[in-house]
Amino acid sequence: MKKDQHWSMPDLKEAQKRSKQQAAIEKSLFNIPPEVKNIGVGRKYYLRTYGCQANERDGETIAGILEQLSFEPVNTPEEADLILMNTCAIRKNAEDKVLGELGSLKRLRRKNPDLIYGLCGCMAQEEDVVNTIIEKYDHVDLVFGTHNIHRLPILLYQAMMAKERTIEVFSKEGEVIENLPVKRFGTHKAWVNIMYGCDKFCTYCIVPYTRGKERSRLPEDIMDEIHTLIAEGYKEVTLLGQNVNSYGKDLHIEGGFAYLLEEVAKTGIERIRFMTSHPWDFSDEMIDVIAKYDNIMPFIHLPVQSGNSEILKIMGRRYTAEEYMTLFNKLKAKVKNAAFSTDIIVGFPNETDEQFQDTLKLVDECQFDNAFTFIYSPRVGTPAAKMEDNIPMEVKEARLQELMKHTDHWSHIKNEAYKGKIVKVLVDGPSKKNPNVFSGHSETNKLINFKGENIQCGDIVDVLITETKSWSMDGELVKQ
Ligand code: SAH
Ligand code: SF4
Ligand code: F3S
Repeated sequence: MKKDQHWSMPDLKEAQKRSKQQAAIEKSLFNIPPEVKNIGVGRKYYLRTYGCQANERDGETIAGILEQLSFEPVNTPEEADLILMNTCAIRKNAEDKVLGELGSLKRLRRKNPDLIYGLCGCMAQEEDVVNTIIEKYDHVDLVFGTHNIHRLPILLYQAMMAKERTIEVFSKEGEVIENLPVKRFGTHKAWVNIMYGCDKFCTYCIVPYTRGKERSRLPEDIMDEIHTLIAEGYKEVTLLGQNVNSYGKDLHIEGGFAYLLEEVAKTGIERIRFMTSHPWDFSDEMIDVIAKYDNIMPFIHLPVQSGNSEILKIMGRRYTAEEYMTLFNKLKAKVKNAAFSTDIIVGFPNETDEQFQDTLKLVDECQFDNAFTFIYSPRVGTPAAKMEDNIPMEVKEARLQELMKHTDHWSHIKNEAYKGKIVKVLVDGPSKKNPNVFSGHSETNKLINFKGENIQCGDIVDVLITETKSWSMDGELVKQ
């Protein structure tokens, strides 16, 4: 198909540029033109979100917008008049999965000729993906990116009513847009964006290109959102950013993330979590705030990526393995009974066996409660993709297996230590299989299944741990 001159196509080179200019805070950019207002009446949408919490939170905004347009949600693509894939670009296999599904869903149009297919999220920011969509997925009617979600009503109108294939992706991030609708998927736990984008440019990572430059929200807008959530009965907020430690630098906010975290803690909300922290700019002030407040959960996700300083250097992580250990040990000493999780990549270009052994050594030293382990995947447009991806797949896979033996071992050992202890659990709800079994998370983010009665979703209860596994624990409600 020929490219349409009205389309705005993504451009990763453009997306890489960083302007010195502070992002404007825009409070009235979202609006629904009168002719678009009712386009969802009698129509159903199926939204599928992949990827990280930032994408989950975007999914809540997209759902909020669609429901303002009177669309109704459904749980299967077969029932839908609009199928939207909110995608992740972090690794190639994640992308292949989405394209595979998108291809297999094409058949649904035979039954419903007016069915609209849309693709959004991080994959939409990549030119090779959008070119593939244009050339090979001619059933896809709508493509929009991470920077123009607020334009969804107009774009949808174009695609649905004017029956025009609509592709609009902005490569420049633009404003911090406030006052977008939101349909929260959780009833007692909520995601709160504190900033967007990433300026770290780790050499393997596509996020700084798909999400643009670091832009912080104003503290007052974040606090307003949290006060509203508290008034609505929310018990837990997770403060989101690709690197929350950088919060406020662009706005020259004194104290940065430490200041914001303390303000949130002072609201008295039961539970506060945050993610992700980059080890590079984790300040002592931040550690002190985390240690000081009981409502800041003692659970820290601190991605290390590799245990070898040479590899870390080529990854552009800006810390050595020794510096990581120093920070890790400081956190462990100051934040009592904290649990730690991490992210690790194996098979980065030129990673030798000795360098991989350093990763295993670091894992055994830190004894993480949980680790997300990945095989390196070259991402077009990133500096690492220009290096030769020279570790054979069998070696990458063998390293991953070996690494997981270590990480699983520590998950198991860490969980075992909870046996016989009483933990506070925020209840997510009854389990799908058994209405008398409830599940929820401990302060250290452990998944706990327990028997009990008269328990509501959102309650915080004491549970005695009776059995531990690698990924969850079983327990019994402690009667008050
Ligand atoms: N901002 C977060 C990371 C978001 S991406 C942080 O810096 O911690 C989540 C994880 O995906 C990363 O920590 C990394 O381990 C992994 N990842 C990112 N790019 C990758 C790639 N090209 N190949 C394999 N794993 C990757
Ligand atoms: Fe990617 Fe690094 Fe930014 Fe995390 S900090 S999103 S790994 S570039
Ligand atoms: Fe994936 Fe984009 Fe998040 S690439 S990890 S959905 S920021």
